[in-house]
Amino acid sequence: MMKYYLAPMEGITTYVYRKAVRDFFGDGVDKYFTPFFAPQTKRHKSSAAIRGILPENNEGIYLVPQMLTDDAEDFLAFEKDMRSYGYTELNINLGCPSGTVVSKGRGAGFLEHPQKLDHFLEDVFAKTNAEISLKTRLGMHDAEAFPQILEIYNKYPLKELIVHPRVRDEMYSGNAHRDVYRWIKQNSRNPLVYNGDIFRPGDETDGDEPIEDTVMIGRGMIADPSLIRQLKGGKPADRSEMTAFLHRIRDDYIKRDPDERHCMEKLKEIAAYLKASKRTMKARHLEEFMVELDRSIRENPVYG
Ligand SMILES: Cc1cc2nc3c(=O)[nH]c(=O)nc-3n(C[C@H](O)[C@H](O)[C@H](O)COP(=O)(O)O)c2cc1C
Repeated sequence: MMKYYLAPMEGITTYVYRKAVRDFFGDGVDKYFTPFFAPQTKRHKSSAAIRGILPENNEGIYLVPQMLTDDAEDFLAFEKDMRSYGYTELNINLGCPSGTVVSKGRGAGFLEHPQKLDHFLEDVFAKTNAEISLKTRLGMHDAEAFPQILEIYNKYPLKELIVHPRVRDEMYSGNAHRDVYRWIKQNSRNPLVYNGDIFRPGDETDGDEPIEDTVMIGRGMIADPSLIRQLKGGKPADRSEMTAFLHRIRDDYIKRDPDERHCMEKLKEIAAYLKASKRTMKARHLEEFMVELDRSIRENPVYG
């Protein structure tokens, strides 16, 4: 049986979004991840961040909190906090391409410092009580550096190694390097999860076979939240389902924070993936935005 994970997406896959996926399209989603926590900034102590991992906001969801750090003590403090909420599986972000993150040697930036990365993992694995997965890119500038990084990963008993086969400089452009992924499959000692450019049924295959037993999907699921259901042989989203899904997200954001501008900002991030009309994206008030969004869904021929 193939397994399917919803990728973490900062600003999008919040608990409000994850719960709506669970209720409308969640049957085939085996694992969810939080967008990254960055404990150096004490962000994970903020009430907004904690709300995202409260068990009552994540019922019926297998959730893995993700952390972005290059400091083992920070990670272990995060682990302890997360354990108090019941989380024993955690993920470390080694792929974030953002300039402010990589310049500090975190996310994909950590891949430029293999010795430091090795020491970090050594410290973490010496002391952890959690199951730990890593989410990695292939490197900063060039996939040539990856064999050395994989050798490091191979030293540790990872719960999973989730690979987005692009280098940082590529951001999200071009195609994921499936040829490099094939090489990784032959050389990883840890269980693998493939992540990258699965937008429609068929994209999860490599020739006649699935590219991997477990795949993680980000943008493809935001653009079409029924994608995992379709990969499992189910039906595409229809208009009424999409409309109800989006209205649920609207309602839950408003319950969380009655400021309509904040709600609309969140919804616009999602709408950007939905081929919503220009009028939707330019709406200045939530009510106008929802009318235009509904119209975009109604007029989009992809929905049955
Ligand atoms: C807007 C946006 C936000 C993202 N936020 C995160 C994040 O918080 N943590 C993370 O590990 N990856 C993050 N990613 C990367 C995705 O999880 C995923 O690896 C990437 O989109 C490639 O997968 P896809 O081709 O299925 O979208 C983000 C990507 C985008 C486009």
